[in-house]
Amino acid sequence: MIIDASPESAAFGFEGQPYYENRRLRLYDAVVVRASNRLLWRCPKQRLVEHYDEWITSRHLEVGPGSGYYLDHCRFPAGSPELTLLDLNPDPLRFCARRLRRYTPRCVRADVLEPLPALVGSGFTSVALNYVLHCLPEPPGGKEVVFRRLREVLAPGGVLFGSTVLSRGVRHTVLSRRFNVLYQRQGSFHNQFDGVGRLHRALAAHFATHRIEVRGSVALFAARATPARPGDE
Ligand SMILES: C[S@@+](CC[C@H](N)C(=O)[O-])C[C@H]1O[C@@H](n2cnc3c(N)ncnc32)[C@H](O)[C@@H]1O
Repeated sequence: MIIDASPESAAFGFEGQPYYENRRLRLYDAVVVRASNRLLWRCPKQRLVEHYDEWITSRHLEVGPGSGYYLDHCRFPAGSPELTLLDLNPDPLRFCARRLRRYTPRCVRADVLEPLPALVGSGFTSVALNYVLHCLPEPPGGKEVVFRRLREVLAPGGVLFGSTVLSRGVRHTVLSRRFNVLYQRQGSFHNQFDGVGRLHRALAAHFATHRIEVRGSVALFAARATPARPGDE
C-alpha cells in the first residue's frame, strides 16, 4: 500500500519522471546501475553498495528508491530493518515494494522539495538520497532545502548519505560531459550549478559533521546530525 502524502500540485508530468515508469524500471539496473555508473560517471555500482553497507541502519528512510537495486544488494545491520520508501512517483514505490517485500517497507508518496508530511515519520537513524539531488530542479532558495527537510526527520546523531552526479569540481570525460548536458536538456538532470564546493557548504550548514568522496563525476557524501546531549529526551 502506498500512503499518498503528495501535495495537490505534485504532478505526474513532473519533468524527468517518465524515466521511472514501471516498464523502464525493469531496464534501470542494466542501463543506469551497471552501464552508466561504469562507462559514464566512473563510479561502479560496487562502490555505491559499499557506501550503503557503511552507512545504512535498521531504521532507514530511502528517498527516491528508483529500482531499489542498492537496498536489495546492501547489508543491513543484524535484525529486521524498519524501512520507509519515499518517492514523488508511485511507480518506483510499487516496483520496490515488490522487490523488497522481504523487508515489508512502508511506502509514502511525497515530494522531498516540499515540507515533509508527518506521515513520513521521524527518528530515522539513516536517510539515503542516492542519485536524487542531480534530478531535482532548483526551487526558489536552492535545492539545499532538502537537507533541512531531511535533517528534521533524522534522529539525533543520525546519518544522511548518498551520491550525486556533479557538473563542477569533478572530472568529466568527453562522453560523460556530453551525456550530462543531454540529460540536462531533456530535463532529467538539473545539476548545472551543482559542484563539490556547493555540496560541502550545504552539508556544513545543516549537519554537525560530513565527508565527501569524489569518484569519477560523482560525489559520495555522508553527513551526521548533532548527537543528543546528555539529559535530552
Ligand atoms: C535517478 S533515480 C535514483 C534511484 C535510486 N536512488 C538509485 O540510486 O538508483 C531518482 C529517484 O528520485 C525520485 N524523485 C525525483 N524527484 C523527486 C522528488 N522531488 N521527491 C521525491 N522523489 C523524487 C524519482 O522518482 C526516482 O525514483
